[in-house]
Amino acid sequence: MSELLTIDSISVSYGSIKALRDVSVRVEQGDIVCLIGANGAGKSTLLKAIVGLEPITTGSITYQGHCIAEAGSSDAKKMFPFFGKRLGSSNNLRTDEIAGRGVALVPEGRRVFADMTVEENLDMGAFLVRDEQKIAQKKEEMYDFFPILGARRKQKTRSLSGGEQQMMAIARALMSSPRLLLLDEPGLGLAPLIIQDIFEKIAIINREEGVTVFLVEQNALMALKASKQGYVMENGRIVLDDLSANLLQNDKVKAAYLGE
Ligand SMILES: Nc1ncnc2c1ncn2[C@@H]1O[C@H](COP(=O)(O)OP(=O)(O)O)[C@@H](O)[C@H]1O
Ligand SMILES: [Mg+2]
Repeated sequence: MSELLTIDSISVSYGSIKALRDVSVRVEQGDIVCLIGANGAGKSTLLKAIVGLEPITTGSITYQGHCIAEAGSSDAKKMFPFFGKRLGSSNNLRTDEIAGRGVALVPEGRRVFADMTVEENLDMGAFLVRDEQKIAQKKEEMYDFFPILGARRKQKTRSLSGGEQQMMAIARALMSSPRLLLLDEPGLGLAPLIIQDIFEKIAIINREEGVTVFLVEQNALMALKASKQGYVMENGRIVLDDLSANLLQNDKVKAAYLGE
C-alpha cells in the first residue's frame, strides 16, 4: 500500500479566524478514511484546501507523490503565467488541475443544479472528458449503478428527494473516473435508512472500482463503521487518529460523538 494523499501540518485562516491548525492526515491508496467532527470543526475547510479552493498558510499537500500545495509557494505565477519563469516556481495547482489528476469533490449540501435534468448534471461532471462516446458510456454505468437516476434521467433535479440528489452528486463526481473521491457529509439531513444506502454505494465504489475515499462526516457512527482509518477534528485540530475500529471503542469518542 502506498500513500495517495499526504496532508502535512497545514493551516488555513479566514481573516483572523484560524480554521485549521497544523492538520496532518494520511490517506493510503485503496482505503476509505474518515474525518469526524462537530459543526464548525473545520472539516469542509480541509476538503477545500485539498482541492485548491483555500490557500494554506503552513505545511504542504502531496498527492501521488507530487506536491500540489505548499505554504509560501508563490501564487504570482497563477496570476501572471507569462512571468512564471521570472517569478519562480509555484507548486500550488489550480482546482481544475487537481481535478484533472483524478481528485473529485462532492461538496457539502450536494450543490446540484436544481433546474437541470439528472442527465445534464451528469454531463457537467464530465467536463474534463473529451470523448463523447466515453461520456455516454459513463452515464449508462451510472444509471446501472444508481437505477433511480436512470429512471429519472430526463427529470429536473429539484424533483428528486434529498437522498436521490446525494446519489446524483456522487454520480456526477464519478463521471470523471476519479482516483480519489472526497465526500463532504454525504449523510447530512437524510434519514438513517437512506444514509445506509448511500454508505453501501460508497463501499462498492471503493471495493469494486478501487476508488480511494476520504469521507468527512458529523455522523460519526456511520463514518467510522464505513472506514478503515479515522481522524477526529476539534476546533481546527486533529485530536485523535486511529483505526476506525479502535475509535469506535474509544471512550472519548463514545462520549463525545457516539452518544454512549
Ligand atoms: N468563508 C468563510 N469565511 C469565514 N469563516 C469561515 C468560512 N468558512 C468557514 N468559516 C469558519 O471556519 C470554521 C470551520 O468551518 P468549516 O470548515 O465549514 O467547518 P465544518 O465543515 O467542520 O462544519 C468555522 O468557524 C466557520 O465559521
Ligand atoms: Mg462542513
